[in-house]
Amino acid sequence: MISVGITGTGKYLPEKVVTNEDIVNMGLDTSTEWIEERTGIKERRVAEENISSSDMAFEAAEDALKDAGLDSEDIDLLIVSTTTPDYQVFPSTACLLQDRLGLRNVGAFDLSAACTGFSYALTTGAQFVKSGDMKNVLVVSVDCLSRFVDWTDRSICILFGDGAGAVVLSEVDKDYGILLSELYSQGDAADLLMVPAGGSRRMMSMDILEQKENLVRMDGRAVFKMAVNSFVPSVLNAVKKAGLSLDDINYFVPHQANLRIIDLAAQKLKLDKNKVLINIQKYGNTSSASIPIIMAEAKREGLFKDGDIIVMAGFGAGFTWAVNILRWGGINV
Ligand code: ACO
Repeated sequence: MISVGITGTGKYLPEKVVTNEDIVNMGLDTSTEWIEERTGIKERRVAEENISSSDMAFEAAEDALKDAGLDSEDIDLLIVSTTTPDYQVFPSTACLLQDRLGLRNVGAFDLSAACTGFSYALTTGAQFVKSGDMKNVLVVSVDCLSRFVDWTDRSICILFGDGAGAVVLSEVDKDYGILLSELYSQGDAADLLMVPAGGSRRMMSMDILEQKENLVRMDGRAVFKMAVNSFVPSVLNAVKKAGLSLDDINYFVPHQANLRIIDLAAQKLKLDKNKVLINIQKYGNTSSASIPIIMAEAKREGLFKDGDIIVMAGFGAGFTWAVNILRWGGINV
């Protein structure tokens, strides 16, 4: 059986910083203290008007290829996880990216699982390497949710930021790499977090634009509970199933949605604070990009050591959630 690991990481964050103070100055009935206390977010990045998801994805992808020491011709498959594609219907953002990266004779497709997109794409991409059919798969996760939030709704616009993260998946030494992946979905909770209109169920109209039904709607409290109650037990199960204990975890990398969700999860999992990777204060919730962005930052900081056990946990709209357990290193095949 071929072992598959992350052999390169990359990220891109737009230059424009929107601080909590900037949001207060937009005239919203909120305060910098409220936002920081309830979410942990101090600032987020917002893509300039001329920057789209594929532009951010391109920068993150190039960064990951460089980190892996690979060229575009080494890539056999491209998966882009996003819920904010450049074009609503087609072409896919993956095809736009394939062209810009100069990837030749490869399949390229978008994958939609909201904030769990990276976990789903990582799991999917890894299967192609594991089967022996492909050598290197590029997974790029990007979201530009600033375009889909109501900037006058204080309960939503404070949460999200834009960005992209990418990883290269390749064969690694035996017993390294992805040890276990578990994917979950629960569609009966779809209405907790949704963009209610603009798709095939209710096509775009003036009425929808006026009612702002083409933008994110969320039951924040219910999402909070659903998130904690779903992914925390799944992490416990996955760790056990992988034949590990919670003490074996060197780093826990949760989706960055709210610092209170992360703290509660860490508390329930009895994890030391220094094992939990957090960057939500700088970027807010970058949806499917949040886990690969933090992985790229941790790798650049030299945090991960050979053999470290890293548990990544995603959750998001759908409702979807997922756990990936990785043994870092073994990149000498
Ligand atoms: N400033 C001041 N007051 C606010 C703000 C704000 N920005 N936003 C909401 N409030 C008010 C509410 O109106 C409410 O007032 P009321 O009591 O008069 O009705 C009060 O604060 C409390 O509201 P809650 O919604 O209960 O506040 P809560 O502490 O739950 O925080 C939040 C809200 C931050 C949205 C929280 O529920 C949350 O983070 N939920 C999870 C959201 C999330 O993770 N979403 C994404 C997950 S999946 C994915 O990533 C796509």
